[in-house]
Parts: sequence; structure tokens; C-alpha cells
Amino acid sequence: MAKVKINGKLFDIPAGVKFGDLHHDIEKAGVEFGCTDGQCGVCVCTVKSGLECLAEPSEQEEETLWRIGEYEENRRLTCQLVIERENCTIELETD
Ligand code: FES
Repeated sequence: MAKVKINGKLFDIPAGVKFGDLHHDIEKAGVEFGCTDGQCGVCVCTVKSGLECLAEPSEQEEETLWRIGEYEENRRLTCQLVIERENCTIELETD
């Protein structure tokens, strides 16, 4: 489990689970989801801390970030995030 603060709301999220699979919960923090599949880009967020605890973006995620003009180190698609390392604190915010 890792503590993940999303728009100020705290979640316990296990490693290895795609955030998109938890979209019903994460939506409660005001994150907008569309495809939950890394394609539409509406769930783009800024990772404020804990980027090193997340798995690297997939090619699909990078492609979408490029397409929507958000390709930056700490800009990620919320639905595509997967925690790789436990015992860390991750903080992210959507616009
Ligand atoms: S919900 Fe479509 S890219 Fe995340």
C-alpha cells in the first residue's frame, strides 16, 4: 500500500494496480476520467511528489501526452499510474 494524496484527498492504493481500475473511487477527489485507457488525456495530472515510486509511463501514455501537448516529466495520465514501490507518499493534482 502507498498513501496517495489526490487533490488533497488521501487514498491507500496497493502497488501494481492501475489507477484507472479505481476510477470510481478516485473520481471522488474530483479527477475526471474518460476512456480510463490512456487515450483521451482528460485525466492528465501533475505529480507533485513520489514520481520515483511510480512505474515509468507506457508508450501509449507518452504518445497521448505528446498529442495533448503535456509531455513533461511530472505530467502523467492519472488512469495509467501504477505504484511500483510501496511505503512512499505520492501526491498529485489535476487542473
Ligand atoms: S481517462 Fe482517458 S487518458 Fe486517462
